[in-house]
Amino acid sequence: DLGRVGDRLELPVYAVGGFVRDLLLGHDNADMDVTVEGDGILFAEAFAVQHGGRVKSHQKFGTAVIVLPDGSKIDVASTRLEYYESPGALPTVEHSSLKMDLYRRDFTVNTLAIRLNAASFGTLIDYFGAYRDLQAKVIRVLHNLSFVEDPTRVFRAIRFEQRLNFKIARHTEDLIKNAVKMEFLEKLGGRRLLTELIQILKEKEPLKGIGRMASLGLLRFIHPDLELSLTLQEMLEDARYVVSWYDMLYLEASYESWSVFFLVLCDSLNDDEFLSTCNRLAVSEHFKEKLALARRQGNELLAGLERKLIQQGKLDNSEIYFFLRGLPVEVLLYQMAKTRNAELRRCISLYFTKLQGVRTLVRGDDLKKLGLAKGPRYREILDAVLSARLNGSVHSREDELQLVQG
Ligand code: CTP
Repeated sequence: DLGRVGDRLELPVYAVGGFVRDLLLGHDNADMDVTVEGDGILFAEAFAVQHGGRVKSHQKFGTAVIVLPDGSKIDVASTRLEYYESPGALPTVEHSSLKMDLYRRDFTVNTLAIRLNAASFGTLIDYFGAYRDLQAKVIRVLHNLSFVEDPTRVFRAIRFEQRLNFKIARHTEDLIKNAVKMEFLEKLGGRRLLTELIQILKEKEPLKGIGRMASLGLLRFIHPDLELSLTLQEMLEDARYVVSWYDMLYLEASYESWSVFFLVLCDSLNDDEFLSTCNRLAVSEHFKEKLALARRQGNELLAGLERKLIQQGKLDNSEIYFFLRGLPVEVLLYQMAKTRNAELRRCISLYFTKLQGVRTLVRGDDLKKLGLAKGPRYREILDAVLSARLNGSVHSREDELQLVQG
């Protein structure tokens, strides 16, 4: 239907970029990118009128996003039509505006376009050998200044290479090394660096991306002292394991898995270094405070728990619960990946699977009925009942009430 709206407005319309790349590779890609040779905003509005949906547009860039009633999105970009005088003195429309648009992109594999207008629907347009590179599984820039123009592409190259299981072309890799050596990446703002790092850490296989970042000397942009030691590598592998374990356990879990890997990456940094890393990467103030505090508390609490474990040989469920209660999932998973103590790891896993959901059956109201004055005592009593429940020494509401009265 995009093509038909294009036909009606007499505008050439193309599906482009990552969408076409993934289509040819048989990968899912929910985001459709469309390029219109001409006024893309006009096109987006006409399409939305016909199909329902809203349009958010940026006049300045000639771009628009169509949000369809089912929530899916179509990104629309415009290329300027360029008119050239033909020898016969009649102005002819050159389709090179699409070519120029595609030439500005990062890698050849992202430069494919598919014509959507009815007359030539489905025609694949490949100006820069993209199809060849898709088949050869190669990530290749279009020109030598690509990383100078946009240093975030260094991280994008790594992300695509690992995700698609491709290989960065030799010359492209040399250009990356050169960009690192010439300190082009220093020009990147912290926020943009963080966005790219998060995207790598959110990939299905973040370790491969981290490994590649390390071998290209990019970890120092997180912190100058960071390197991929054997210990860090092991810890990352354990993090990968605990994150997939947790995701299997809680399919609907809402937590930031990327920050587990981020915490592991920063494990060798002290509190001040961690804070300065967050500052350099422009981590939001709120998230930084939360992570820094939880990281410190997590380290202290887990050390405490381990000491107790060594002293007593075994811990009660209630001891585990009160040590770990209140720590964010991200920090618990980080600690799980970090500890070399199998028993401690078992404690954290027990906390997730059994303990964190345990509740008392008596409530504050019951205490009131029993004539207990409201106050901090309430919390203490309820925690004592909870401990008994966690340790399996009360089984029913009656047991609990008896405990309160006793
Ligand atoms: N692009 C670019 N340089 C960048 C970012 C994006 O040239 N620094 C181009 C790419 O060619 C890409 C298009 O803009 O195809 C859209 O960007 P984005 O949606 O980030 O890329 P996708 O390829 O769709 O990536 P993903 O599959 O991760 O969404």
